[in-house]
Amino acid sequence: MHLPLSDMYNQPDERNLLDQMRQGVIGQPLDRPEGPLKVSGTATYAAEWRIDGCVEGVLVLAGIAQGQVSKIDRDAVLSREGVIAVIADPAMTRRPAQGMAAKAPQQDAAKVEYFGQPVALVVAQTFEQARDAALALPIYYTDAEGDPVPFDPAAPGVKVEAPSSSKPVEGGDLDQAMQDAAFSVDVEYDTPGHASAAMEPHATIAQWQGDSLILHGSYQMLSYNVKEIADCLGLSTDKVRIIAPYVGGGFGSKLGITHEAVAAALAARGLGRPVRVVMSRQQVFQTVIRRSETRQRVRLAADPAGRLIGLGHEALVSNLPGEKFAEPVTQATEFLYGGENRLLKVEVVRISRLTAGSVRAPGEAVGMQVLEAAMDELAEKIGIDPIELRKRNLPAEVPVAGTPYSSRMLTQALEQGAEAFGWSARQDRPCQTRDGDWWIGMGVASAARVNMMVPAKAKVTLTADGSAVVESDQTDIGTGSYAILGQIAGEMLGLPMSRVDVKLGDTVHPAGAGSGGSFGAISTGSAVMYACEAIRAKLAKALGCDADALVLKDGMASGGNAPARPLRDLLNGEDIAETGTIKPGKTAKSFSQASYGAFFAEVAVHAFTGEVRVRRMTGAFGFGRVLNAKTARSQCLGGMVWGIGSALTEELAFDTRDGHLVNHDLAEYHVPVHADVPAIEVILLEERDAAASPLQAKGVGELGICGAAGAIANAVYNACGVRVRSFPLTLDKILPALPDPFASGADTAL
Ligand code: MOS
Repeated sequence: MHLPLSDMYNQPDERNLLDQMRQGVIGQPLDRPEGPLKVSGTATYAAEWRIDGCVEGVLVLAGIAQGQVSKIDRDAVLSREGVIAVIADPAMTRRPAQGMAAKAPQQDAAKVEYFGQPVALVVAQTFEQARDAALALPIYYTDAEGDPVPFDPAAPGVKVEAPSSSKPVEGGDLDQAMQDAAFSVDVEYDTPGHASAAMEPHATIAQWQGDSLILHGSYQMLSYNVKEIADCLGLSTDKVRIIAPYVGGGFGSKLGITHEAVAAALAARGLGRPVRVVMSRQQVFQTVIRRSETRQRVRLAADPAGRLIGLGHEALVSNLPGEKFAEPVTQATEFLYGGENRLLKVEVVRISRLTAGSVRAPGEAVGMQVLEAAMDELAEKIGIDPIELRKRNLPAEVPVAGTPYSSRMLTQALEQGAEAFGWSARQDRPCQTRDGDWWIGMGVASAARVNMMVPAKAKVTLTADGSAVVESDQTDIGTGSYAILGQIAGEMLGLPMSRVDVKLGDTVHPAGAGSGGSFGAISTGSAVMYACEAIRAKLAKALGCDADALVLKDGMASGGNAPARPLRDLLNGEDIAETGTIKPGKTAKSFSQASYGAFFAEVAVHAFTGEVRVRRMTGAFGFGRVLNAKTARSQCLGGMVWGIGSALTEELAFDTRDGHLVNHDLAEYHVPVHADVPAIEVILLEERDAAASPLQAKGVGELGICGAAGAIANAVYNACGVRVRSFPLTLDKILPALPDPFASGADTAL
C-alpha cells in the first residue's frame, strides 16, 4: 500500500481500498446517526440557537421591479414599541455572488433590480414587533417601471448574451445532417422557473466577538460561504466562523450566502448585539435564487438505422444583468448520445427577475427532461422502441471532444429498469389503454448527471480508547453526510458505527467540500478515506506488519505474523490524528465522468379533463459505489418526486405588469404532496469508478431529477396522444388536444 503521492487526483486510484476492508459497514442501508435528533425536534437548526441578548430583524423587500429607492422613512416606524433600528446598507441589498470567490458587484443601495430585492432591515426586540414595523415602513421609489423585460428575446430592449461560463459545442454540419437524415425532429420546448423550496427557510443569527463574526446559519458550502461573507463585509476569512450542523434542505438555494446573513451581520455589528434574521416563506421565494426558465430547441437527425448523425440543443435561459451563472442546459447533452454533427449552445436573456442560480441539478434537471422528450418523438418517427433508440446511440467516446468514459451504466439501467417496471406491457401507439375514464400510458427517459470532485479536507482521530472522530466543515443538508462519512471511517478503521463520531457543519473543522453539485459525498468522503489510510499506516507500524497486510475489524488489529491486538492496546494511550486531502486533478479532464440511470413512468390522463396522475415510477441508477443504500435511495426518490413536480405542477409565475412573483408560497407554488406521489421503485446498480474518486463512487444527490419529468411527459403522450412541449403539463395544455374520449380503444380494459 502506498499513500497518494499528491493530493491532486491526477490518476484513477485503482487500489479500491474500501472493497478490501473487513468491517462490512460500507454500502449498508444504515440509519442516519442524527435521525433521532431530527425527528424528536432536538437537532438545532439555524434560527433555533438561544443566544443571550439576541434581537430580531425582518427584511423589507422592494415593491418594484426596476428603479431607485428615493427615501426610506425610518422615522415612521422607529417610535413603534420595541423597534430598535432600520438599516439600509449597500452590502445587504446587493445580490449574492454566484461564482467561487467572485467579488460581489459594488452597487448603489438604492438601485432596485427585481421585485422582492431586500432594501432594508428592521430590527426590534421581538419578531412580531419587527415584522409589524417592516410591513409599515414607507419606501419611496423613483423611476419605477413595470416588468420591463419579459423572457422574450424578441421583445424591445431585451439583451441576449453569450454566457462567460460556457462555450458552444460545435462539430460538423448540423444543418446538412438534418437535410440528410432519414428521420428528424426539430422541436422547441419550454420549461418554467423553479423554486428550490427547501423546508427550512433561510435564517441567520449573527454575533460579533470583538472583530470576529460568528454566524449560525443555514448554508451548503461553509468554507465558500466564509469567503463570501468576508468579501462582503471586508473581513479576513479567519475572522468569520460559520456554524451549521443541521440544514433543512438547500437544493442550491443555500450554496451562496443570502441576504439575511449579510443583513444580520451588519445589524449585529452596528447595534453591538446579536441579531437574528429569519426569512418568511414568501421572502425565500421572492429573494433567494430561482431556477431559470428555459426555451430549448432540439434537433435530432437520424440515419435509416436510427443512429444519430446530428444533434442540436440550443437553449435560452435568463438571469439578471451582470450575473455570471447561466443554467447549463446542454451539459449532459454533450456526452450522452452520438451525432457527430452538432451544435450545443446556451444564451442568457437579461431580465429583471430575482437572481437565477443553481437549483438541484442545474443544467440536467431541465435539459435532460427536454432532450429525453425529444428522443421519444424521434423513436416514434423511426418506429422503434424508445429504449432501443437510446441503446443504439451510446457513443464509444464523447463526440467532438473525444474523451473516454470512466464508466457508464446506462444500458444496464435501461434494461434492468425495463424488466422491473414491466416495460414489455407498453403499447407502442397512444390511446390504446383505458381504465374507466383514464387513458393509461408508459414512458421512459435516460438519466445523466455530471460527476464532480471539489477540494476537500477531513480530519480523522483514532482516540486512545479505540474510537474514531471525523471532523469536517462538510454540511449535511438532509442527504446523509453524517451517515456516509461515518461509514467510510468505520470501514477503513474496522470499527462498528457505535464507535465512530462524526462532527460536521462548523468552520472550526477542516474545510470539506460542502453540499452542492452532488460532490459532497465523493469529495469529503475521499478525504476521510485518505485520512484513515494514513492512520492505518501508523497502526501497521505499531503492530509490526505491512500496511497492505493490516486487517482491522471490530476494534481488533491483526496482520502478517503479528498476533491480533485490540486497537486500544496498540494505541498505548495515544491518539492518532490525520488530515486527509483531495483535490480534483487530471482525471476530471481525461475522463467523461457522469452518473447514469433510467426512469420509467406509468401515468393516467383523464379522458375528459386532461388531469394527469402518475401511477407508478421506477428508476434504475448507476453511480459507482453505493456508500449507503438507504440514503442513496432516498436521494433518488427525492429527485424523482421533483421530477413529478417538474412534469406536472411546478412553475414560478411572474406578474407581467410589475414583475412580482405571484405564487410565492407553498400554497400557490405546487410541489408534489403525498397524494401526488405514487409507489416509486428505486434500483441501485453497483458499479466501481476509480476515475471518479478513490472511493470509486460518483455523485447521486441530483441524479434522480435528471430526466424524470421527460419520462412522465412521454408517458402522457403514450397515454393520450397529446405531446405538450411546455412544462409543466397542466391540464389546460392537454385538454384542447385530447382525443374523442369515446373513440376506438376507449373500451380497452387494462
Ligand atoms: Mo446543488 S443545485 O449544486 O445544491
